[in-house]
Amino acid sequence: MELTITQPDDWHLHLRDGDLLKAVVPHSASHFGRAIVMPNLKPPVTTTAAAMAYRESILKALPANRKFTPLMTLYLTDNTSPDEIKLARKSGVVFAVKLYPAGATTNSQDGVTDLFGKCLPVLEEMAKQNMPLLVHGEVTDPNVDIFDREKVFIETVLQPLIQRLPRLKIVMEHITTLDAVKFVESCKEGFVAATVTPQHLVLNRNAIFQGGLQPHNYCLPVLKRETHRQAIVSAVTSGSKKFFLGTDSAPHERRKKECPCGCAGVYNAPVALSLCAMVFEEMGALDKLEAFTSFNGSDFYGLPRNTSKIKLCRATWVVPEAFSFPFGDIIPMFAGKTLEWQPSSI
Ligand code: DOR
Ligand code: ZN
Repeated sequence: MELTITQPDDWHLHLRDGDLLKAVVPHSASHFGRAIVMPNLKPPVTTTAAAMAYRESILKALPANRKFTPLMTLYLTDNTSPDEIKLARKSGVVFAVKLYPAGATTNSQDGVTDLFGKCLPVLEEMAKQNMPLLVHGEVTDPNVDIFDREKVFIETVLQPLIQRLPRLKIVMEHITTLDAVKFVESCKEGFVAATVTPQHLVLNRNAIFQGGLQPHNYCLPVLKRETHRQAIVSAVTSGSKKFFLGTDSAPHERRKKECPCGCAGVYNAPVALSLCAMVFEEMGALDKLEAFTSFNGSDFYGLPRNTSKIKLCRATWVVPEAFSFPFGDIIPMFAGKTLEWQPSSI
């Protein structure tokens, strides 16, 4: 069996910089046409000038003859100015602004400490410029249980934000709960949407502890219980336009994952489309796969859909145990496992 679909885009991707960028960009570029590139580098990409420079280094790292368009983002801080948003819009290369609550995840230490106190003028300018806000939707209060941080964020930040700025476009990134599904479904189409990762579609929190601690299944927001996974699968296979693929592929060198205080992040770029096809097939919804991977995201961002196609063949393949580079190994999601769907460009 074979499926031909419009080339997918990745609406949430970590490409890093330096050697890691060169190592991982070919994987994303071999399947995806465009990607929203996360700005949580060290130091973070807080200005349009930095985003333009980062974009150049991504293009330079691409294999020859590979067409892949990085869609850049800015990292929101307490000090981002409304003028920076005007510059970003004018540049034509910045497509969104990312909100990391300070301390929520990898390289979020420069993130926002007080959204309503410090960022309202910037958010107002974003609404004016039709610039989407991408949110890492977790509160950082250590007294809130890690499995409840998304739900509490919806109640204490997102709902008040939408009340205040109903015309701001918001993407709730990497949703993990039934609560997030219900919230996004209740919002106005075209203003609030959500990205969904392969790991939150196929794994529940048992996968972090299966037969011992599994660092390569640790990401943030952390995997949740099975009922939440099922709610997300139902949402994406329902045909709703509000949900689209954002892999959150987040490479870390093996020794930064397999150590006493391992980094959060799942490297899924090589397996993302295979896993999506698997989930949609299991749900008898293969006819809805293309909208999730290739239409809903570009429609939300107001960008044209890709015109190129890719093929997904029903052929087994084994995920490499590791990708090895002079600087170290990167372990992909589902390393060593056999998958049923193989993507290829046509
Ligand atoms: O698991 C994650 N890894 N979640 C994030 O929010 C950041 C990402 C990273 O940059 O490694
Ligand atoms: Zn991410």
